[in-house]
Amino acid sequence: MDGLWDKGVPVLQLDGGDLFGRRNQNERFQTEFLCEQVGELGVDAIGLGEQDLNYGLEFLRSMMDKYGLPFTNANVRDAASGELILPQYLIVKRGGITFGIVSVLDPAQKIITMSEKDETFQVDDPVTVLRELVPQLREKVDTVVLLGHLGDSQTDNVVREISGIDISVTGHTYRNTTTERILNDTAMLCAAYEGRFIGDADLMISPDDGKVMAIAVQVTSLDDKIDSDEEMLAKIKDFKQRLTEFKEAKRAAYPRTFGSDRENFLGDRTCKGCHEDAWSVYVKSGHMRAFATLRNKGQHFEPDCLVCHTTGYQYKNGYSDESPFNRLINVQCEACHGYGTQHARDGKWGAQAKDSCVTCHDQKNSPEFDYETYWEKIKH
Ligand code: HEC
Ligand code: HEC
Ligand code: HEC
Ligand code: HEC
Repeated sequence: MDGLWDKGVPVLQLDGGDLFGRRNQNERFQTEFLCEQVGELGVDAIGLGEQDLNYGLEFLRSMMDKYGLPFTNANVRDAASGELILPQYLIVKRGGITFGIVSVLDPAQKIITMSEKDETFQVDDPVTVLRELVPQLREKVDTVVLLGHLGDSQTDNVVREISGIDISVTGHTYRNTTTERILNDTAMLCAAYEGRFIGDADLMISPDDGKVMAIAVQVTSLDDKIDSDEEMLAKIKDFKQRLTEFKEAKRAAYPRTFGSDRENFLGDRTCKGCHEDAWSVYVKSGHMRAFATLRNKGQHFEPDCLVCHTTGYQYKNGYSDESPFNRLINVQCEACHGYGTQHARDGKWGAQAKDSCVTCHDQKNSPEFDYETYWEKIKH
């Protein structure tokens, strides 16, 4: 960016979306740092990606306010109110040209938030939205820019369908567009993912009709060949220190201290072989869906939830998201009965399972819990 700014030419900075991280507390922490830096770089427009709603709309809006992030989107609505959740388009004047920037999200991308509230969004058909909006925008601006958070082939389809888009920047893709490409009179640009690349298009734009007259494209890999910026390096070093502290605090809340390294959880399939009757009750129970419940909520990396929705979470050799322990998803037989390697037939080993319920069915998560009525539902 310094290289571009030093040239003194007008620069329009665009981002195709999916700036935010995955749905867990660590990545949310990291996302805030990223937002701060992107805010400082002074990006002119960011198209909404489905990832950017991972932490809920309130978090997205707080990042926009705090760091001046110009997110925009024309087809995602709050399902309850029917209102668009972001500015429908942005207008930016640069180098004597007025740009109208519009972004749409692929309705096939699932939006899942990890906010406490149940948020639902309605995503309108991109072509229908743009067919109406682009001509209106053309009245107001010189050059229309599409940030299509649609992936390669769908962005191409949209550009073929809709005329009047001068520049298209594709989001939600892993592919770079490294050469000049014109489709239906639209200059097609794309630099791929995770901030690993930066795309730079030199455009000559006619001041008369806002049309792109000439274009030269270059995609740079942000690898070790690029010198580090000292100021940024210091910030990252400081951030990494804070992230380590944050993670340690988190882990400290769930130490893996119970049980013994010598014992193992054998997994529910092992028990199935000899206990078909117990199995037939278990497969129908909510316990076997406990992980899917988290996945549907996008919370399956979150220690705060995993602790009760998996098997042996705080136990040695218990669930973790790494193989082989990641097969211990759900509240399996051994979540109540304990290590399979301690299997006994003395009556006492089986009886202890009764005491397990309340470690998970606590006041907060299962206020209705009553042993008799709950056991009745999973009796085996
Ligand atoms: C390791 C944590 C854990 C333990 C131990 C546990 N449960 Fe659960 N239980 C859950 C979770 C999580 C759910 C919700 C599952 C879902 O639908 O996602 C649940 C749901 C249930 C349900 C409602 C779902 C259904 O199948 O009808 C019943 C009943 C139930 N538990 C009974 C019990 C009883 C009785 C015990 C003790 C013998 C027990 N649980 C021990 C975590 C646990
Ligand atoms: C202390 C243990 C515990 C923790 C921590 C916990 N849960 Fe649960 N969860 C349960 C139990 C037990 C139930 C079943 C409640 C009942 O049926 O009485 C349950 C039920 C649920 C259900 C309803 C399942 C259904 O389909 O009926 C959802 C959704 C859920 N939990 C999500 C989460 C999420 C997300 C988190 C983390 C933010 C979380 N839980 C943390 C124990 C826990
Ligand atoms: C939610 C906790 C929980 C889960 C999950 C669970 N059990 Fe149990 N299991 C119990 C409890 C509680 C008892 C009854 C203990 C008692 O009253 O003596 C029991 C009893 C048993 C018994 C003894 C039955 C008898 O006739 O005395 C067997 C065998 C058994 N479970 C096997 C399994 C197997 C196999 C699975 C997995 C497919 C499983 N259990 C899953 C809690 C659980
Ligand atoms: C090789 C066969 C086999 C496997 C595998 C097996 N069991 Fe058993 N289990 C038995 C037999 C046999 C008994 C005693 C007769 C009975 O109660 O069904 C028993 C008894 C039990 C009891 C009652 C224990 C007591 O205190 O008397 C429980 C609980 C139990 N099994 C749970 C499990 C769980 C959980 C698993 C998986 C980790 C498992 N079993 C795997 C054969 C097996």
